[in-house]
Amino acid sequence: MQDGAHLKCIDPRCGSEYPISYANVQCARGHLLDVTYKTRPPSSLKETFYKRRNSEGSIFNESGVWRFRELLNFVQIDTTDIDQCSKYLVSLDGAEGRQSKPYQMSKVAEFVGISSDNLWLQPEGYNPSGSFKDNGMATAVTHAKLIGAKKIVCASTGNTSASAGMFAANEGIKCDVYIPSGQIAPGKLSQAYQFGAQIIEVDGNFDDALKQSLQDAQNHKGYTVNSVNPFRIEGQKTIPFRALEYLNWEAPDWIVYPGGALGNTTSCGKALMELYEWGWIKKIPKIAVINSVGASTLSDLYNGKFEDKLRWNNGNPDTELVSRYYDHLDEAGLRPKTKATAIQIGRPANLLKGLRALEFTDGVVTTVTDSEMLDGMSVVGLNGFDCEMASGATVVGIKKLINQEIIKKDDTVVGILTGRQKDAMIPVDYHRDSENRFAKPPRN
Ligand code: F0G
Repeated sequence: MQDGAHLKCIDPRCGSEYPISYANVQCARGHLLDVTYKTRPPSSLKETFYKRRNSEGSIFNESGVWRFRELLNFVQIDTTDIDQCSKYLVSLDGAEGRQSKPYQMSKVAEFVGISSDNLWLQPEGYNPSGSFKDNGMATAVTHAKLIGAKKIVCASTGNTSASAGMFAANEGIKCDVYIPSGQIAPGKLSQAYQFGAQIIEVDGNFDDALKQSLQDAQNHKGYTVNSVNPFRIEGQKTIPFRALEYLNWEAPDWIVYPGGALGNTTSCGKALMELYEWGWIKKIPKIAVINSVGASTLSDLYNGKFEDKLRWNNGNPDTELVSRYYDHLDEAGLRPKTKATAIQIGRPANLLKGLRALEFTDGVVTTVTDSEMLDGMSVVGLNGFDCEMASGATVVGIKKLINQEIIKKDDTVVGILTGRQKDAMIPVDYHRDSENRFAKPPRN
């Protein structure tokens, strides 16, 4: 059934291929994998996707992920056959990606210094578990089910575990989540408990938790649903698909994300590579990745703050340079540190795929401070939208790039607001301090 899709190693010198039923997230040599498709979907599907916005009673049309199922059809089903969809595709009753689309936010536009007509912000926090993760979890758990996995496993700064827990509970499978002890937002931790996930507290940071979860998944037959899983990336392609569809498939100049493990950067890059190759878009938007100053691995390497500038280099990235950078972090005792715990990540698992996306789109990487992220988060609130601190990075990253004239005033920009607020005290503390730019302190 699955001949039209397979897995391929991203390293052109390795290039090993596997069938879709392959259960590992890496090739035999430990490289990341891509899902690749034999067929070139016709752009007439744009019309089909548009029509599905009137769902006609199908949850697979309602779903903001499966509405685009022809572009992520790794199961190789007949996408018009609803019985096949029901049998194979995992969905939270059509709710993943359903509420997220780009909005114009006048106060945010004023703050970043661009015309409101040119700025679109897409709140992925309006997914059922409250973050963009549900887009990719729908596809990863579809694959888990396809290969008969009984337990899904992840490491998480909180949102992945909330999403994995929710999908696992819905599908009646087990879920183990590895979290850096004391370093995730209480609202995220409580979701994992609420959905019946088994929490494993790791004494360390996210990078340590990921290492342990990958080992345990292999040893105890767990199925990894972190963004190193290529099927997660397939579902997350629908984030730019939805944005592009609302812009009538007219590519914007920029798509901007906060950067953590770089799953988003990867999936946006892959979506754009495919759409461009298929002739669906004529222009390639540039991806801008915004790191926190306290967790700036990508920025340090990409912008040459450590040694030479690290590039994908047509599939020949200088991986020795990456090793030297990590050794330097270890030797100097440098640990990622930001109040935006969602992106407190020192070793982005998708670094090489992220570099590939940046090369393809001629992208940029920059950093913002914690206090800037809080301002970004808060101004989104003043437009009546909710987002978490890490998502605030998108807003202030855009502002910084506009100030540096890297983003031009008449460019069209799509910013992704990755998650909703799950740390109730962050806005409370922000507004109690009248020094903060958007603070509205309480009155007696
Ligand atoms: N924004 C939010 C709200 C996140 O939860 C994450 C990652 C990111 C941005 C970074 O995205 O990894 O694709 O670069 N959270 C993960 C987690 C790591 O475990 O929930 P990325």
